[in-house]
Amino acid sequence: MIHNETIDQQLEHRSIRKFKAETLSVDELTTLYTVFQHTATSMFMQNASLLHITDEHKRAQIRQLCNQQYVGSEGDLFIFVVDLYRNQQIRQQLGQDDGRVHTTDIFFQGLDDTLLSFQNVANAVESMGLGMVPLGTINDHPLEMLKVLDLPKLTFPALGMQVGVPDQQPQLKPRLPLKFTTFENEYPRDFKVSDLADYDAEVTTYYDLRDANRRIDSFTKQITGDKLNDKRIDRDQLPQLLHEQELCLDWQ
Ligand SMILES: Cc1cc2nc3c(=O)[nH]c(=O)nc-3n(C[C@H](O)[C@H](O)[C@H](O)COP(=O)(O)O)c2cc1C
Repeated sequence: MIHNETIDQQLEHRSIRKFKAETLSVDELTTLYTVFQHTATSMFMQNASLLHITDEHKRAQIRQLCNQQYVGSEGDLFIFVVDLYRNQQIRQQLGQDDGRVHTTDIFFQGLDDTLLSFQNVANAVESMGLGMVPLGTINDHPLEMLKVLDLPKLTFPALGMQVGVPDQQPQLKPRLPLKFTTFENEYPRDFKVSDLADYDAEVTTYYDLRDANRRIDSFTKQITGDKLNDKRIDRDQLPQLLHEQELCLDWQ
């Protein structure tokens, strides 16, 4: 296995959920923006935008919708946005309206761009000695979040990121052994849950700082738990949100 500064830092990744009461310097912010800008982009379309939320009222509204106290608290809050609006404006203003912008295909193109830029920025954050946590919860109440962010049609807030100076040192969270996740040429279908016994045991030794330093459930318990059926969230609104944003109109 090869080690260098980049790889070692990537292998040290852990989500940070407690930050010191500091915000990014102009230099740090400019660096993250520039890394965002240089991410690979499908067909050179540059279908991603980055919103830095500094308005305290908006941050509080977003925190409430995400229902996580570290969102929009200490540090800096970013929203990574799939952005098909800008290029559609270019087309429309030049008299070349493109109906294909409403297809699932083009939405995925924008989502690819946006998520690649997310991880590029995440790596940059961590390489600067800062920490971050991805925020999927920005889509727990998609229709309300859209109002708070006041985004135009043909945009979609894919993922949030809270960034800052770490004020905690979580344990490294154990991942599935590679034999379960990386394959050559063919996808094996002989997966047996009983093969995960060792990994389950490993996961239960991990302390989650999110939950008052408690050990977490085994991996299989987490997968079979009711995480995906949380009645307090409105993720079922996502198809409606996409359609309201005039995205994925070919996908019922
Ligand atoms: C797409 C995505 C969304 C996530 N959303 C949240 C979130 O809303 N809140 C949170 O605290 N962590 C969130 N996380 C962080 C995961 O919980 C975390 O990556 C996972 O438990 C593994 O832990 P680690 O990042 O410390 O290795 C998210 C991660 C990803 C990739």
